[in-house]
Amino acid sequence: MGKPMPTLAGQVVVITGASSGIGEETARRLVRGGAKVVISARRPVRLAAIARELDPSGERVLAVAGDVTSDTDRRRLVAATLAKFGRIDGLVNNAGYGTRGPVELVPVDLIRQNFETNLFSLIALTQLVLPAMRERGSGCIVNIGSVAGRIARPMSSIYDSTKHALEAISDGLRGELKPFGVRVTLIRPGFILTEFVEAAAKISDPITDHAGPYAPFLTGFRAGYERLRRIAGTSDDIAVLVEHALASDNPAPRYAAPFHAKIFLFLKWALPDRALEMITRLRK
Ligand SMILES: NC(=O)c1ccc[n+]([C@@H]2O[C@H](COP(=O)([O-])OP(=O)(O)OC[C@H]3O[C@@H](n4cnc5c(N)ncnc54)[C@H](OP(=O)(O)O)[C@@H]3O)[C@@H](O)[C@H]2O)c1
Repeated sequence: MGKPMPTLAGQVVVITGASSGIGEETARRLVRGGAKVVISARRPVRLAAIARELDPSGERVLAVAGDVTSDTDRRRLVAATLAKFGRIDGLVNNAGYGTRGPVELVPVDLIRQNFETNLFSLIALTQLVLPAMRERGSGCIVNIGSVAGRIARPMSSIYDSTKHALEAISDGLRGELKPFGVRVTLIRPGFILTEFVEAAAKISDPITDHAGPYAPFLTGFRAGYERLRRIAGTSDDIAVLVEHALASDNPAPRYAAPFHAKIFLFLKWALPDRALEMITRLRK
């Protein structure tokens, strides 16, 4: 008989950014797989509705509303999880958004905010769950990176640099935690249809609406996103990888989906910088 399929049944998994998109779909998939799931994000009403839908009994799903950038909220998330389920087996660091615009025009405070959400808060939350995982000798951290963590594009390099940094942190963490039996993996989504583009617009439109000489290029940048919609993947393309990574006793350092993500990553590996620039360059 072969090795039994790894299972998530009974595992306690915390997911940040679970009020929409990839996080929400991951919660749905993990609950189906038998996990006990804690969902977190800033919008309490949405979060509560998702929790009710996933588990009307309230026995296996807990919603903890909070802002991942708040130290108090992060501590509350961990404390509420431990109070309800007694342990944390998996952390899916998924909360994130993108700030768009030419580097010259984006206020540095907005750049800091983007790093605060996508990187520093992710590190801080991970630091809160690690001691117990390390002492127990098991656990899994799943970081949601991006193809943008390998390929930086004009008008998107603020967001892209947060995901580049996440690549490095994930590599460091993976090596540091391996001796203690804690697994770390990074998932690189390509373009996925979620609320991501709308969230990015909300943050970035006040900048990009007054982009002066950059304005015609921003129009081209947005048109590029519209074209990408044709090959976009679904949140479940990523959720399935998260489930696999959490259930595996030896997950790969990195995963990518959907298929176009693998092609872009291959091109980054295979092409000289100038050739790749031909693909990412600004157009009017
Ligand atoms: N969609 C894509 O094409 C794509 C591609 C590559 C990587 N990704 C990555 O995938 C992850 C999920 O994004 P998505 O595509 O599913 O977008 P989304 O639908 O906009 O979801 C983002 C989630 O993050 C939460 N969030 C944002 N800021 C937060 C904060 N300060 N505190 C707590 N929660 C916060 C949002 O909830 P609230 O607003 O309720 O707080 C929401 O639940 C992100 O890390 C993103 O960078 C997405």
